[in-house]
Amino acid sequence: MIRLENVSKRYHMGDVTVVALEDVSLEVDRGEFVVVLGPSGSGKTTLLNLIGALDAPTEGRVFVDGKSLSGTRQSRRFQFRRETVSFIFQTFNLFPSLTAYENVQFVVDMGNKPNSNGTAAAVLRDVGLNERANHFPHELSGGEQQRVAIARALATGNPVLLADEPTGELDFATGIQILELLKAQAEKGKIVIVVTHNREISRIADRVIELSSGRIVSDGPPRDGTAAIADLQW
Ligand SMILES: Nc1ncnc2c1ncn2[C@@H]1O[C@H](COP(=O)(O)OP(=O)(O)OP(=O)(O)O)[C@@H](O)[C@H]1O
Ligand SMILES: [Mg+2]
Repeated sequence: MIRLENVSKRYHMGDVTVVALEDVSLEVDRGEFVVVLGPSGSGKTTLLNLIGALDAPTEGRVFVDGKSLSGTRQSRRFQFRRETVSFIFQTFNLFPSLTAYENVQFVVDMGNKPNSNGTAAAVLRDVGLNERANHFPHELSGGEQQRVAIARALATGNPVLLADEPTGELDFATGIQILELLKAQAEKGKIVIVVTHNREISRIADRVIELSSGRIVSDGPPRDGTAAIADLQW
């Protein structure tokens, strides 16, 4: 469903060219739970941004559902972002003046899908935040804000979930709860791509893509086989 063909992304900063991704090709099918692993600066967020049409490659092409995202009209890219991908950003990006509930309801309203009554309350319950639903982001801890961001992504019902360090701000127990939620989404047939530099998390993936200096250095099942979430430790 997602295909990248020889994708490179370079940023020009005055005289300096930063290579964020170099000649990346990959395909991801529905139902796959993929972990993208790599050190800081290796291109993980850049890769998610290209898959989610938040950014365009310098070279190469990105296809989603057989359609090229390159060269498409702005309105089509907007529609794609609204209907196909949901981001869980590294920095949450919650609306500061909306409560947790309103942050989630906002995307439900934007999606304008039938039978969406109750969705916001249900996903907030799923991430364990029903009692904090009426709090504003500044009244929530980092981990709670992260869970609102995750609830917001789940509320769209979109088939591709892109999560950038979704457990970065969370204590171990909450992190495990979030990983279970994300994994269950893949089991329901969604594509779930989780970016992390925590190698332990990659043990529960169907597939681990490792980046180093913008290149894919390995792509396959976890080295020692897929582990159960209950076996993780960090
Ligand atoms: N908008 C930008 N302008 C210039 N350089 C950028 C931009 N975005 C990213 N880069 C550079 O591209 C490289 C890859 O960045 P990216 O954010 O994808 O890394 P990352 O693997 O997500 O790192 P982290 O784990 O720290 O989040 C880095 O060297 C970064 O400085
Ligand atoms: Mg990043």
